[in-house]
Amino acid sequence: MRVGVLTGGGDCPGLNAVIRAIVRQGERTYGDELVGFLDAWDGVRDRKTMPLTIETMRGTLPKGGTVLGTKRGSPFDSSSGAAEVAATITALGLHGIIVIGGNGTLSVASRLHETHGLPIVGVPKTIDNDIEGTDVTFGFHTAVQIATEAIDRLHTTAESHDRVMVVEVMGRHSGWIATYAGIAGGATMVVIPEKPFDIDDICRRLARRHESNRFASIVVVAEGASPIPGTLDIDERTYDRFGHVLLGGISDVIAREIAERTGFDTRVVMLGHVQRGGTPTAYDRVLCTRFGVAAINLVHDGGFGQMVVARGSEIVPAPLALVDGRSKPVDPALFDGAQVFFA
Ligand code: F6P
Repeated sequence: MRVGVLTGGGDCPGLNAVIRAIVRQGERTYGDELVGFLDAWDGVRDRKTMPLTIETMRGTLPKGGTVLGTKRGSPFDSSSGAAEVAATITALGLHGIIVIGGNGTLSVASRLHETHGLPIVGVPKTIDNDIEGTDVTFGFHTAVQIATEAIDRLHTTAESHDRVMVVEVMGRHSGWIATYAGIAGGATMVVIPEKPFDIDDICRRLARRHESNRFASIVVVAEGASPIPGTLDIDERTYDRFGHVLLGGISDVIAREIAERTGFDTRVVMLGHVQRGGTPTAYDRVLCTRFGVAAINLVHDGGFGQMVVARGSEIVPAPLALVDGRSKPVDPALFDGAQVFFA
């Protein structure tokens, strides 16, 4: 078979490991020819490709980023976009395309399959771990590891100065990274989008902790966190050209309020894109490898309109339609159960 591969949306550690696994399994097991599209859907529209072979992918397993480049945006941004994708598939003689992406990219892939019958298989990627249908996405474990290491370092400087450190992590509208990194890093408290916060309550809990002679505190805040409506003024949200809310900065608001209301010396650390950079953890490399092999197998099984997902210890197919622009929230049992460790 001739199979196309693209990476869409924000990058995350492990993209190259997935591509490498697709190529290995494709070439070695099936004698396939793999074609990489550059810069996501733009490469499909403009037919900008690169050959993906065992040779070209050599050494890429531990490399962060994506050899294919990636971009936000969708063929549905223009009226002719979907037809252009279909035309490329025909012109290049492709039997299928493997789309590696997050919520946005996989929702587009699902729509292309449903409306135009295109032969697409998905692989769920994102550090945010917010894709419905899969227990876990690749990149998440690496981002949690990076955030945890940062929190470990912040403990010692916070203790030296008796400070409150407010650490902002990514995750869009889900608090998975904050919850996992908060538990793993022994945070004082974790603030997530799924539970709008009460700034009075945050300050009361910090004051109580400091009254009992514990001075340093680490408050992990997910970028999508917001106050209980009517309790705190925050600036109007701004949006990017794709209509996604631009997140980042809620930790400044929380830190300012903590400092003003409690008098504690407070600092902000925004981990930002550091969480998306560099080499994937061993766990993610294995997950990526299993996803990549399963994705090319699914193409050969004719499982179009599906993605490969992790369920327990298995990698299985699931409908792309499950994604549908939704954001998978943190498991409430996990978050509530962790409260015993927080102030
Ligand atoms: O979805 C992954 C993610 O890193 C989010 O956690 C974050 O809100 C967003 O992407 C940042 O996007 P950009 O790369 O466009 O700054």
